[in-house]
Amino acid sequence: MASQLPSKILIIGATGTIGKYIANAIVSAEPRIAQVTIFTSSATASNPDKQALLSEWKSQGASVITGDIGNADDVKQAYKGIDTVVSCLGRNVLANQTELLKLAEESKDVQWFFPSEYGTDIEYDSSSKDEKPHQNKLRVREFIRDNVKRVKCTYVVTGPYPEMFLPLIPVAEEAGGYDLKSRRAVVVGSGDDKIGFTSMPDVGKLVVAALRHPEASLGKVLKVQSFVTTPNAIVEEFEKQTGTKWTVDHTPNQKLREAEKASWEKSSPIATLYTLKRIWAEGGTLYDKTDNEILGLKPEDMEPLSSVVEKNVSGKGY
Ligand SMILES: NC(=O)c1ccc[n+]([C@@H]2O[C@H](COP(=O)([O-])OP(=O)(O)OC[C@H]3O[C@@H](n4cnc5c(N)ncnc54)[C@H](OP(=O)(O)O)[C@@H]3O)[C@@H](O)[C@H]2O)c1
Repeated sequence: MASQLPSKILIIGATGTIGKYIANAIVSAEPRIAQVTIFTSSATASNPDKQALLSEWKSQGASVITGDIGNADDVKQAYKGIDTVVSCLGRNVLANQTELLKLAEESKDVQWFFPSEYGTDIEYDSSSKDEKPHQNKLRVREFIRDNVKRVKCTYVVTGPYPEMFLPLIPVAEEAGGYDLKSRRAVVVGSGDDKIGFTSMPDVGKLVVAALRHPEASLGKVLKVQSFVTTPNAIVEEFEKQTGTKWTVDHTPNQKLREAEKASWEKSSPIATLYTLKRIWAEGGTLYDKTDNEILGLKPEDMEPLSSVVEKNVSGKGY
């Protein structure tokens, strides 16, 4: 049974920040992986900015259906004939996934479910369970452990996306970043501590690889990466590509912790960013071995740091 998976994939959250990359990779995969249906809201389907994306996927053979993820009848209808669900839902609706999983478990068709993760390892070590940004994802995993028996789940853990890690955010400079215009970087700590990254196109590539290898990925927490580097090595890459020396400021790890605490105390929307940057700076993305290889991906298949910096230098967004 498992070896026939996937044959009909439903993608939820397809037009989101990372959903776009995942849906693009699935829809345009060669050779084709499966029949693809995009389940989206009517608001997205009628949004002119998103229509081009949906039309492009339709022209590549995908179907688009509309409905409300909070409406059980819409979800049951969407699950008909679907064996694999890939959720790319945003942080604001992660908790809705428990109902989506319950309906998947009750359906007779859905056999495989990718909950929306594609980020930091929420069960990296004993401190992970207390991290505020992890709570909704942890609850989804707990729900799955306790309630989802028939459907197999796959979590794709990617660490940070370098495209989103690079920009220096003026209101959160202590969190670190790179400002092309002023040729200035802020790095956390010494800047020599390693961080594992997955580029946004590679997230899509890795999800496709997981879909192509159910024997390796069904029921697994997959730890995947494009490359491991240091904040100082990123400065060097920017200096090489811009042909100039950059100014580098350092945020001591303790100062980042203080900024993080203050940010949570005032319920700032950037509190999550501070926490994640602290986790990344303190080694929470590092593994002896990733799962890239069991998905059939070699180091040369992944996007290198130089390419991500090149996209930043040439002003390409994400
Ligand atoms: N590793 C990293 O650096 C990193 C960075 C960002 C995100 N992530 C992770 O990636 C995952 C997706 O995050 P994202 O930032 O890509 O999400 P997002 O862009 O905020 O939202 C993704 C999609 O969720 C759906 N959605 C959002 N609100 C909804 C609502 N009220 N009702 C119905 N659908 C709704 C929409 O689907 P439609 O497209 O159908 O409208 C939206 O496009 C999360 O698990 C997040 O933690 C990781």
